[in-house]
Amino acid sequence: MSKELNYAQPSLQGTIRIPGDKSISHRSIMFGAIAKGTTTVEGFLQSDDCLATIDCFTKLGVKILVEAEAVQIISNGIDAWNEPNEILYTGNSGTTTRLMLGILAGSNVSTILIGDESIQKRPMKRVTAPLKQMGAHFIGRDDAQFTPIAVEGKKLQAIQYKMPVASAQVKSAILFAGLHAEGETMVTEMETSRDHTERMLLHFGANIAVEGKKIRLQGLQELRGTHVVVPGDISSAAFFLVAGAIVPNSKLVLQNVGLNPTRTGIMEVLQEMGAKVSIRHLNNVSHEEIGDITISTSELIGTEIGGELIPRLIDEIPIIALLATQARGRTVIKDAEELKVKETNRIDAVVTELKKLGANITATDDGMIIEGPTPLHGADLFTYGDHRIGMMAAIASLVTSSAVTIDNEICVGVSYPNFFEQLSSVIK
Ligand code: S3P
Repeated sequence: MSKELNYAQPSLQGTIRIPGDKSISHRSIMFGAIAKGTTTVEGFLQSDDCLATIDCFTKLGVKILVEAEAVQIISNGIDAWNEPNEILYTGNSGTTTRLMLGILAGSNVSTILIGDESIQKRPMKRVTAPLKQMGAHFIGRDDAQFTPIAVEGKKLQAIQYKMPVASAQVKSAILFAGLHAEGETMVTEMETSRDHTERMLLHFGANIAVEGKKIRLQGLQELRGTHVVVPGDISSAAFFLVAGAIVPNSKLVLQNVGLNPTRTGIMEVLQEMGAKVSIRHLNNVSHEEIGDITISTSELIGTEIGGELIPRLIDEIPIIALLATQARGRTVIKDAEELKVKETNRIDAVVTELKKLGANITATDDGMIIEGPTPLHGADLFTYGDHRIGMMAAIASLVTSSAVTIDNEICVGVSYPNFFEQLSSVIK
């Protein structure tokens, strides 16, 4: 359904409690289903992607009770799962699809995974190839590059794997498989990517060692159910961080934001660009850092973003591109080819849609170059069914001189179902 966004010179004021982290919510269900006993989750993100993960485990016979942000997972461990009589549907979720491949590879069930139109085009060989080296058995198009993929659970052997891409999904799929493999699995990262899997392994009592970019995990470990508190998602907070910085006369407080250093690249970029941003009430929950962030309207300057920073802000690049259109000077985003294999090709999508608003932005092979500041005007924007493009368009509409229309507002439900309600609550 299309939506017209028409905000006449708004100012943003107020406090938002940021909903649960998508990556951590997925993993809480996955570890809860693998562990023996009961796992309780607090602050769970009930979004389309995370519900797809729950649906997969329900079909495998794991008992999962969801009540708003509280989830209970009751499992007798991976060996007690049922062989499902239905195909497992992973929806739009790359994390569900890739991590499930790693989990199912070493289970004793046979299953088929399928996703939506976007997932069917996203590369899976980056996980199926290393998993095959561990003894996994997959059947799928182009040598298990694309879903649908059939998985026949097998006894796995540990591997030593040097990652050719910076991807937490690839790392996590191998670690999940390594947990059920014989021997010690060692993964060496190309660049450090989000480490929620490693932290949650520790939280569930596993024996795991991390030294710089090397992770070692002993196989055939049995996990026990526990309690998991999910922090707010900094990737969701990012939309309000940018809104608070670029909308005149604004000040926002974002509470309960996950501040794991493998995710805080956007905070470094905001500081580098001169944003008025500060953090208070630092705390720790379930092996993850959290805090409250205050942001207010800022004079911004362009910057260069690349290298090790990219995996720590990969999902924030669409909204950072919008931020850069309002900053003085040139912003260069490089080393971000991975954007091409996200929910849509996010280099093309961001550049095409921001140009429609009047931005001075050029696509490059591995990112984009933005010259600012440019006044933006209204236009009809296309989301490509991608939640983060939809939310970027909505935040852009706060600074455009006329209305912005987006073709699809429901796509935001993939990661942020109450995005529009929370946005309305701070518009003054
Ligand atoms: C995720 C990892 C990232 C990220 C995605 C969630 C995860 O993908 O873009 O939204 O939960 O592990 P890649 O591993 O492909 O970089």
